[in-house]
Amino acid sequence: MNITTIGLGYVGLVTAACLAELGHTVQGIDTDPKKIQMLKEGQMPIYEPGLRELVSKNNMEGRLGFTSEYCDDIEHSLLIFLAVGTPTNKDGTPDISAVYQSLDSIIPYIKTYKIFVLKSTVPIGTNEAIKKYLSKKLKSEFDVVSNPEFLKEGTAVQDFMKPDRIVIGTENIKSGEIMNELYSHLTRNGHPIYTMDPVSAETVKYASNLMLALKVSFINELSLLCDSIGADIRRVREGIISDPRIGSQFLYPSLGFGGSCLPKDVQAIKHFASQMGIDILIPEATLKSNEKHSKWFINKVINHFGSEKFKSKTLAIWGISFKAGTDDIRESPAVRVIEGLAKAGAKLRLYDPIALKNAKNYFSTAPYKDKIEYATSEMDSIKGSDALVVCTEWLQFRNPAFEKLSSQLKDKVIFDGRNLYDPEKLKHFGLNCISIGIPPAKVKSKVS
Ligand code: UDX
Repeated sequence: MNITTIGLGYVGLVTAACLAELGHTVQGIDTDPKKIQMLKEGQMPIYEPGLRELVSKNNMEGRLGFTSEYCDDIEHSLLIFLAVGTPTNKDGTPDISAVYQSLDSIIPYIKTYKIFVLKSTVPIGTNEAIKKYLSKKLKSEFDVVSNPEFLKEGTAVQDFMKPDRIVIGTENIKSGEIMNELYSHLTRNGHPIYTMDPVSAETVKYASNLMLALKVSFINELSLLCDSIGADIRRVREGIISDPRIGSQFLYPSLGFGGSCLPKDVQAIKHFASQMGIDILIPEATLKSNEKHSKWFINKVINHFGSEKFKSKTLAIWGISFKAGTDDIRESPAVRVIEGLAKAGAKLRLYDPIALKNAKNYFSTAPYKDKIEYATSEMDSIKGSDALVVCTEWLQFRNPAFEKLSSQLKDKVIFDGRNLYDPEKLKHFGLNCISIGIPPAKVKSKVS
């Protein structure tokens, strides 16, 4: 098939590259000429494992092209994927103006039947609204299909190629069949394609992300409870996850959920429900709990030293991205922690394997930017530091040289915001490890 994808961010670029890999001819459009130039030169505007290889291979083999110009070529495509950004407005609702702008830009080039595939996460009811909009502007036949994405940053290519499920929202038999055919090669492993009405498909996306956010907030709240009563969240987690109704995934304590999707989508569902006059409590509770959680951690670090002494401290920070495997720092809980600690007066030495560039950019205009230094490696960040704060669960942070940490950290304390370490083990190295919902070590130190 000939396919056009509009918007070459995480979702659009991964979709374009993967569809090309499946043998389709894909034209990717993005209004940012710098991004198009980069892609044409084989550079990636985002970090996503496996994406560079896929883009260059399919580009070289002639199945994947990029342009910033809308042109007659669009008419050759049967499917037009819309994957433009839908950022959050100040009031918490999603800003879908880019969706309509991209539609306005392609409408002049459309003369025959097209299927518009909505990949961007849009408010419930947008499919219907777009259908009405296009019916006033297009003379040819068309359909609008909601096809939410469930791609995780860091494993987006793999998630596209081996999806848990595919959701197709359309009531039109023809477009439903074409979409099923498009994805049939990805579901040979038996994972399902669900075809449903568009409103339900739009709701599936929000429901999935709300559930995921809720799970993170649930385990984090439970960790706070453990922290105050002396229970161990690791044991409590073990004790609950063997119940298949609860399951084991997405129940790792952290500094809270972040990224470009979960916080935005939970906000959106909260606002949507309130606009509809429906009193659902979970979105607001989840967001409040998430916000409270990083504040709790920041206070825990500051209170350990006392707010006055804290101002004279230097802390090494490991991890700035919102999770491991990505350079994305959008809504990162690590960023919230860095902001909180810098504002409280400590000096910070930041290190992240791939998010440093984005961090330097982000903090360059911050009022507390003088408090922030950038290290070249995790061990470099330790130099001259009193304590270490671990914010992101990068694999390389899991087994550091503890002897070295113990000899270099002046106060010999680690604040573990991802529960990577066992405080009992670290005590053997003379390190005081303060985790989330794990009681302090009881054994005596063997290191003098
Ligand atoms: C998410 C959804 O998983 C994906 O289906 C959707 O399409 C886009 O949004 P992503 O934003 O890449 O994907 O991040 P995800 O892996 O879901 O993690 C979200 C946040 O929750 C991260 O900050 C992560 O660190 C945190 N998290 C996750 C925890 O704190 N604990 C966990 O157990 C799991």
